[in-house]
Amino acid sequence: MTSTYGAAQVLVASNRGPVSYEVGDDGSLNARRGGGGLVSGLSAIGPDAGALWVCSALSDGDREAVRRGVGEEGVRMLAVPAEVHADAYNGIANSVLWFVHHMLYQTPLEPVFDAEFRRQWASYEEYNRAFARALAEEAAEGAVAIVQDYHLTLVPGMLRELRPDLRIGHFSHTPWAPPEYFRMLPDDIGRQILTGMLGADRLGFLTHRWADAFTACCTEFAGGLGETRIGVHGLGADAEFLRERAHRPDVEERMTALRAEIGEDRRAIVRVDRTELSKNIVRGLLAYRQLLDDRPEWRERVVHVAFAYPSRQDLAVYREYTAAVQRLAEEINSRYGTPGWTPVVLHVKDDFARSLAAYRLADVALVNPIRDGMNLVAKEVPVVSDEGCVLVLSREAGAYEELREDAITVNPYDVTGTAAALHEALTMPAGERAERTKRLAAAATALPPAQWFLEQLHALER
Ligand code: F6P
Repeated sequence: MTSTYGAAQVLVASNRGPVSYEVGDDGSLNARRGGGGLVSGLSAIGPDAGALWVCSALSDGDREAVRRGVGEEGVRMLAVPAEVHADAYNGIANSVLWFVHHMLYQTPLEPVFDAEFRRQWASYEEYNRAFARALAEEAAEGAVAIVQDYHLTLVPGMLRELRPDLRIGHFSHTPWAPPEYFRMLPDDIGRQILTGMLGADRLGFLTHRWADAFTACCTEFAGGLGETRIGVHGLGADAEFLRERAHRPDVEERMTALRAEIGEDRRAIVRVDRTELSKNIVRGLLAYRQLLDDRPEWRERVVHVAFAYPSRQDLAVYREYTAAVQRLAEEINSRYGTPGWTPVVLHVKDDFARSLAAYRLADVALVNPIRDGMNLVAKEVPVVSDEGCVLVLSREAGAYEELREDAITVNPYDVTGTAAALHEALTMPAGERAERTKRLAAAATALPPAQWFLEQLHALER
């Protein structure tokens, strides 16, 4: 298919694509299209431009779709062998690169870069090579290819060798590790990652902090940036989509149900996350527990609504973290709960309509990650909030760069400080809260997904 932006064809590459398949009981394949920033970003070049999205088959259903030759227009799914994908995705991308960039290791015992790591690294190379080859095959002369994220750091360099005529961009949706942490990687691997990325004409990051960390790594370990340019594009919330979606009947229904769970006159401290190690859900619960201890006047008058949706459950450490979140929520409920009051309402089943309902009725949104590329929840809540919502925001979230002035900011490790911030948030006068929410919503929507994507395309024009 030919797709155009200006005169150039546009290709996007990412691990997770815009569509996934499930095999039904009768053997038929059901397609599910996902949302997200990249999907709405791509729509900016128009539905008829038909950009090509190269992504990976993630599930058995996806692999079956590739085997049967079933596909969506504009999407090419790569079925690398399941074991290769597992090594590359679970082994390297999520257990090493994610941990490095989010600084998640408990360093007395990990990481261990041994023979098993080297074996998995070979799969990561193979996985990246499959993407580079597919892009090289599909791209017209002079096309623009924008590669996404830490799963595909080697693709720009590999693609540059195969197709020097292309304009290549890469965008990181995660933080980037500072040199003192990045240097934990074996020297040759660290260099390979940096030179792989530097195969791009231009690299995009969500904040200046992550862009500066990348530049510092290149200065220290790769002899500088060379010809590669660096840009910062702070992906914003999609206000138009969110406001329309948040007022559909399914969201209204869930608001009624949630309000009944919380109780008519009670305040709601809301958080919505994947159950992700970097999101700091456990310390959020500890801070809430401390609030109930330090300020007993809040007992019976507030509920912590925590949505913690399953993520990366193939990894034991994620399963353990999920269990820890559930255990602590139960502990708080059994210690403080009364017949008419459940202090923590925890939901683990992903339900977008219910998340929007929680955004609308939240009095306080708790976004306290220990490190986060951006955190779109921080940007989405103020956009859809009905009556204004106070944002308690970690200084380690990318969103801090744009939202700090009107949020109550916290050190995510400081449970006592976070408890105090929750109290301050709950007691903020309604007028101030509404004013701050307005300003937060304006900052949060400064760069909607479509513009975010177009900015990168413009910047890649020669
Ligand atoms: O931020 C990086 C990212 O790949 C995002 O695109 C997404 O929010 C998240 O991680 C999803 O992770 P996974 O694809 O492993 O579920």
